[in-house]
Amino acid sequence: MQRSLGDRLFLVVSNREPYVHGFSGKRIVCQRPVSGLTEALDPVLRAARGTWVAHGSGSADRQVTDAHDRVKVPSENPEYTLRRVWLSDEEVAGHYRGFSNEVMWPLCHIAFVPPVFRDTDWEMYRKVNEKFARAVLDEVGDRPAVVLVQDYHLALLSRLIKAQRPRLVVGQFWHIPWTPYEVFRTCPWREELLAGLLGNDLLGFHTPAYCENFLDTTRHILRAKVNQKAASVTHQGRPTLVKPFPISVDFARLSEEAGTEAVRQEMARLSRELNLAGKLVGIGVDRLDYTKGIPQRLQALGRFLENFPAYRGRVVFIQAGIPSRTDIESYQEVGRQVHELAAGINSRYGSSSWQPVLLMTGQLSPVALSALRRLASFCVVSALHDGMNLVAKEFVASRADEDGVLILSEFAGAAAELKEAVLVNPFAIGEFAVKINEALEMSETERRRRMKAMRAVVAGHSIYRWAASILEQLISLAEA
Ligand code: F6P
Repeated sequence: MQRSLGDRLFLVVSNREPYVHGFSGKRIVCQRPVSGLTEALDPVLRAARGTWVAHGSGSADRQVTDAHDRVKVPSENPEYTLRRVWLSDEEVAGHYRGFSNEVMWPLCHIAFVPPVFRDTDWEMYRKVNEKFARAVLDEVGDRPAVVLVQDYHLALLSRLIKAQRPRLVVGQFWHIPWTPYEVFRTCPWREELLAGLLGNDLLGFHTPAYCENFLDTTRHILRAKVNQKAASVTHQGRPTLVKPFPISVDFARLSEEAGTEAVRQEMARLSRELNLAGKLVGIGVDRLDYTKGIPQRLQALGRFLENFPAYRGRVVFIQAGIPSRTDIESYQEVGRQVHELAAGINSRYGSSSWQPVLLMTGQLSPVALSALRRLASFCVVSALHDGMNLVAKEFVASRADEDGVLILSEFAGAAAELKEAVLVNPFAIGEFAVKINEALEMSETERRRRMKAMRAVVAGHSIYRWAASILEQLISLAEA
């Protein structure tokens, strides 16, 4: 990566920051947020030694930044610069909570939660994108640079940057699905959002299907010229390349970490404390988000216990559900549903010595997550719609023992690559229950065959490969 960047500055921009500084009493502590995006890109920035521009959201963030709002991270071994953008409560309410998560998120995910279109949120979304643009331009100065914008919070940013610095190479990666045109057209600001995204030289999605949806949307809404063969779309004389770059995880690190003594000890501790000895363990690890299909997963588990009674007393399902975006009503609702469903299953089937569902709602350490993945006979990823879903790839990467079954939603981007998973339609509860049984009944030879095949896929396309292919593409555009 450093070789191909040469003397160019590599700049990543996202709303969520990779390191958050907060107070623990009077002490300042640094934490990693629960975010697939930051988890995936942190190793990339470390390797490229670039700059990351993001919203400074921690209560102690200002205490550790310099006069230019910069801090070197990670603090114990600084490898790159984090430039923080300060947002007021009002800006966060309109940009992050309102427009990003009550318009863009439900609009792009088919989870049957309607978007809430508010003019005031749109105004704030525009203003915050402008604020990010000023910070990026300030960081870049006159230097040659490659800018990689992340996600749906910053759909207007690239166009704003290019308006000031037309020769800067700017790409954007969209971490969530791109919805079909018929859905996207309901957005009152559809033209502005699309024009903003077409400010990019390169626009990346996880799968070819999302690229097609996007191209189709621009063709219908902007009457843009789409060249399907060249994977490019031209609007107002400017071309944008639209290509799939399936994101991934740091396979080698996760695989190695899973075999460490710390993880072995954590497995023993969890097994003891959660009474898992002799049990078949299932796991789910998600942010508590309505797109993740957690209620459907629990309903399927209840149906499984009803229809396959021989497994009662033998299976424990651990759902790690990390609270997320909690001031939005639809997120509070999914939290309530998950608690009610878990309690319902436990009271119907559980006994004094066995609870079929264990909910963990706190943030878990990387070691604890690795231990859970290693303890599992099966891992369930049942998203109703998901750009990629890195939990699926993390599970595969952690299973250096080549065992464990992945039950994976057909509607997660990961299903396009992990074909040896047990694929499931999370909306079809009866069928889903049968798939849980299938996973538990699978022979060891078959489990190993599938896990080996999935590990080869993830090992061959790690996060570094993802970053390198986007960078190579951006640099070739710079040199064209
Ligand atoms: O899926 C989109 C995404 O940005 C992820 O990459 C990330 O894991 C998640 O949303 C985090 O959400 P937030 O920044 O709202 O906490």
